[in-house]
Amino acid sequence: MNQQEAPFWEALTAYARQGVVPFHTPGHKLRPGAFTRLQKVIGPGFFAVDPSDEVEAPALEHDFLEALARAQELAAQLFEARQTLFLVNGTTGGLHFLLLPTQGTVLFPRFSHQAVYSAMVLSQGRAAYLPASYDPEWLIPLPPAVGEVAQALDELEPEALVITHPTYYGTVSNLEAVGKLAQERGVLLFVDEAHGGHFHFSPELPRPGLKCGADAVVQSTHKTLGSLTQTSMLHSNNDFWFAKVVQAQQVLQTTSPSLPFLAVLDEIRRELAVQGRELVGKAVELGRQGRRHLAELKGVEVLPERLQADPTKIVFSLRQLGLTGIEVERILRVDYNIQVELSDYYSVLALVSVGDTPESIEKLVHAVRDLVSRRAHLGKGALPRYTLQFPKLPPAALSLREGFYHAKEPIPLQEAVGRLSGGFLTPYPPGVPLIVPGEVFTAEIVDYALWCTRIGWSLRGLLPGQNVLAIKEIGGLCRTVR
Ligand SMILES: Cc1ncc(COP(=O)(O)O)c(C=O)c1O
Repeated sequence: MNQQEAPFWEALTAYARQGVVPFHTPGHKLRPGAFTRLQKVIGPGFFAVDPSDEVEAPALEHDFLEALARAQELAAQLFEARQTLFLVNGTTGGLHFLLLPTQGTVLFPRFSHQAVYSAMVLSQGRAAYLPASYDPEWLIPLPPAVGEVAQALDELEPEALVITHPTYYGTVSNLEAVGKLAQERGVLLFVDEAHGGHFHFSPELPRPGLKCGADAVVQSTHKTLGSLTQTSMLHSNNDFWFAKVVQAQQVLQTTSPSLPFLAVLDEIRRELAVQGRELVGKAVELGRQGRRHLAELKGVEVLPERLQADPTKIVFSLRQLGLTGIEVERILRVDYNIQVELSDYYSVLALVSVGDTPESIEKLVHAVRDLVSRRAHLGKGALPRYTLQFPKLPPAALSLREGFYHAKEPIPLQEAVGRLSGGFLTPYPPGVPLIVPGEVFTAEIVDYALWCTRIGWSLRGLLPGQNVLAIKEIGGLCRTVR
């Protein structure tokens, strides 16, 4: 196969060039027409390459489906997979396709993205969790240790294990060892590589999931590799499971996927085949530079090497100067016109990717330097170290899926102790749910949630008036499930 070709991109742009008179969907008829603001900002180009997927491109003697199949094969070849699917509902969609066919226990770290949870609401499988543990200095969720995974695999004998690689903060498990464990026990290993698509292109980055024995991985190509938002790729090395994944895709995916989105994935794959190593190598170097320069500033701490496996994620803190990460994010946005990826109580995460330049890194460093000097004038003390522990996994009376479908009512958070949750309650970021549907509100969870609201930490799932969703009283005994 020729990696210099982009069959889907070429088919679509050829169709646009033909200027076909469209009596087919979509209704915009391949031009913004009367929609003047769209015309001005998006321009006619995007509309011209946005026909429906039923359209053939006779000049190229193939239709789009065939071109898509070839584009996906080329991607599989580049990422050294047996099969690839292009995805238009992000890694969320890919995780849903992977997990929908499960029927047994699916084990995953509690800090996993909500897409893994929502997949387990859809699937007949049963969710089981590796409890979240946090680095005590940085309070970021740590990937599970190999021993912990081994023990859980032995106890629960799951059908599948889902590992996030890397975490949002760029930390990783020893995935090779985890891959071996899964293989020895015949457990499917799926890797949420939403933030790790670039791993394939640099030996300085952690090994990608497929190289560690994963049956399948899902990557948000849009997050680290430059495709359009919501476009991802699923790569598989397991033919048996892939057939199920394709069925799941037919059930869950729109019947009108955006052709420009798919074409951009194809063209990005071509570019990555040509210059991926160079582009990712530059991003790694820029990340290292930014980190080094920030570390030189008095009062700025950067995430230590022991926690940082991916240098393109610059995690830093101004807590010595009395600022929470949440405040730093706001100041960078308001005073310096810089938007970071996320912030939490201690730290801020600035994401570096193939789209960055030395100038963008310098802008960030300059802004932080300026902020540090302004702050030093005020002579503020260090931020109080917070010692509140993240709550333990609560007992569950219903499975996640049962809890999701049960009748619910809003109740005040303060009065929730002892009630079963009807929804997720998740401090974001980093997005580790305190509680999921079917679990029991403990006093520890309620206290922690109230503390989050006090310090302004956004709590997803909290309803107006500080209410939470609770399951309507179901009577009978609580049976505890994992
Ligand atoms: C770890 C992780 N997994 C999955 C997802 C979902 O990815 P997408 O936005 O591509 O659907 C995200 C998004 O932030 C994520 O951080």
